[in-house]
Amino acid sequence: MTAPLVDTNVHHKPQGVSDRVAFGFVKLLRFCADTFFAKRYGHRAVVLETVAAVPGMVGATLTHLKCLRRMCDDKGWIKTLMDEAENERMHLMTFIEVSKPTLFERFVVVAVQWVFYLFFFGLYLVSAKTAHRVVGYFEEEAVISYTHYLAEIDEGRSPNVPAPEIAKRYWGLPDTATLRDVVLVVRADEAHHRDVNHGFANEMVGLPQTPVAPCPPHAQLEPTWKAAA
Ligand SMILES: [Fe+2]
Ligand SMILES: [Fe+2]
Repeated sequence: MTAPLVDTNVHHKPQGVSDRVAFGFVKLLRFCADTFFAKRYGHRAVVLETVAAVPGMVGATLTHLKCLRRMCDDKGWIKTLMDEAENERMHLMTFIEVSKPTLFERFVVVAVQWVFYLFFFGLYLVSAKTAHRVVGYFEEEAVISYTHYLAEIDEGRSPNVPAPEIAKRYWGLPDTATLRDVVLVVRADEAHHRDVNHGFANEMVGLPQTPVAPCPPHAQLEPTWKAAA
């Protein structure tokens, strides 16, 4: 399969205080990530995908609980958000085959997970719209970072190694697929998350919906825990 074309220039112009806070927060985190990782894109992907997989699960949990309390329909949000969390975890499982985190990076992952999970949970309770806007802006940055990663590969600064097996299975890539093909489908996933989350934030305040970038097809993950029985 070929990765869907990605419009890398999509940007939701901040409107109002909540959007500006979300945008400023994401730009601050971008500055921290750029300072910490510089051009080590493989390491950057591993560490940041451990963070990227958090919001979908938080959003799904809190939407699920809200629907139980209000006894109302979720309009498919819960499944969409859980799919996003699973998809981000597969990004992690893919990039861990490409770059191994240092011991310090593993420590950072554990510390950041504590802080970010609690922060995002609190934010979602206070303003779910701001929380989805934050994710929309995160994903705008992810699309930019993976575009930089592609340039690193194309200009020979990062080796275009064979695609990990897990990535070939999950995205249905050919046997000859390379890291470049993987980065293309991952970037398409991020563009999809970007538009879905901006769309959720828009819907919450009655703003018009914007187009959603297509998501590359993903293989259904079969449980392997049964195999041990
Ligand atoms: Fe991701
Ligand atoms: Fe993402």
